[in-house]
Amino acid sequence: MIDALAGHLGGWALASVVAVAVVGGLAVGVFLALRTGRAFSVELPFGLGKAEVESLSRTTAAETVPEVLEPDPSGGADDAWRRHANGVEHDRLFGVDTLTAQLAEVLTGAGGNWILSLYGIGGAGKTAVAFDVVGLCRRSGKFDHIVWASAKNAARENAFSERDPLALAYWQDVIGSISSQLGLGTEVSRELWEERLHDHIEALSPEERILLVVDNLEGLEDVTSVVDSLQRLGLRQPHRLLLTSRHRERSRRVVSRMVPPLKDEDALAFVRHLGVDDPSLVALPDRKLGVIAERTEGNPFLIKLVVRTYLESARAIDMVLGDLSDLGNGAGGDGRALGHQVRDYLFTRSLNELEGMYGQENVVRLIGAFGTKRAGDSLEYRELQRVSGIQSDGTFAAILRSSCRMSLVRPSQVNKRYSIHSLLYDFTTQRS
Ligand SMILES: Nc1ncnc2c1ncn2[C@@H]1O[C@H](COP(=O)(O)OP(=O)(O)OP(=O)(O)O)[C@@H](O)[C@H]1O
Ligand SMILES: [Mg+2]
Repeated sequence: MIDALAGHLGGWALASVVAVAVVGGLAVGVFLALRTGRAFSVELPFGLGKAEVESLSRTTAAETVPEVLEPDPSGGADDAWRRHANGVEHDRLFGVDTLTAQLAEVLTGAGGNWILSLYGIGGAGKTAVAFDVVGLCRRSGKFDHIVWASAKNAARENAFSERDPLALAYWQDVIGSISSQLGLGTEVSRELWEERLHDHIEALSPEERILLVVDNLEGLEDVTSVVDSLQRLGLRQPHRLLLTSRHRERSRRVVSRMVPPLKDEDALAFVRHLGVDDPSLVALPDRKLGVIAERTEGNPFLIKLVVRTYLESARAIDMVLGDLSDLGNGAGGDGRALGHQVRDYLFTRSLNELEGMYGQENVVRLIGAFGTKRAGDSLEYRELQRVSGIQSDGTFAAILRSSCRMSLVRPSQVNKRYSIHSLLYDFTTQRS
């Protein structure tokens, strides 16, 4: 299979990433893992060793000031949580109305279930579904404070190991984000955030209810330690906790629900929704379009990547569908699941398209800029340009626009920040 893929991989034969560390505004390191078939070799254009670049990007990450530390002006009373749900970008979701309604019912209900966990594979829509569930909860008027925190790095780095200062810093970021959304400022030192948050929650009146979302707990095999930590902060009934993770939580304390792949009819409706302005796509019969649903296995993220890349490219839809059909037929088997191979193929294809428009260097610079951050982190427009080192304002604006259209980069409409999906982050940093 991988041999069959290698033919398609073309320019992003290069594929992978990058750490661009910026010291005093100067880009000092970029590394690319050049992929040739099965093998990866590493090229370091700016003379730094791989270990140095990795340690540099790690240090940069550790020293990164959490994005949100100022007390949120709304004190968590209104829609501030939306700003913290990084990368959520859907206008509507397909095939999950019943699921979102049921989940909102559990969270707003009077029952004893106060911790809900959404699980499913990467790109299945956990964050998106959680976002819509929170929207429903918000409209119910049952919560006084809605808080959205992302635990991606905390989870990845085993935040609960007290001996690991970096891990502790990541967990403190989560605490900082929660504190900020509850209206607490940064006047006390980081070490005291947890204690202050605890005091704040305990001092709430008995009627005041918090809905806390902790998104992206995928690095943890179980979420018990997170729940314990949050309970120590005073978060328990009548508050509610909504967690998302790629793993199923088996603790009896937690109600777990899977976000399933899209059914064929929902996947097709989604494809046509994405391609609404393209008559040649919308007019195709289900039989032909079905290959997208089939090859992506109903994964909304991959569906979006395929359709958006097609829309941005000059290729005919039949060619795209033809390539997708071929994919998987020449199974060679390199031990990886087909889903992974398809995912890699689709990223490679999208990145190749982008390279065709803007050149390899610009693509590496842009996507690589996200490699200087931690997974899930976002960059503001000017910061992204600076870190990428793309000098020309026009080129930067154009490549960013195309990347967003292709679903490689995700804009946040609310605060004009940009991030890449965790799956692309994993792909470009070869973490999974
Ligand atoms: N039901 C759906 N209908 C339409 N689009 C969807 C649906 N679910 C998810 N999406 C879109 O698919 C993409 C991936 O969704 P999301 O980021 O929520 O996945 P995830 O399960 O949280 O992934 P990860 O495990 O990597 O965090 C997003 O662009 C989202 O807008
Ligand atoms: Mg997610």
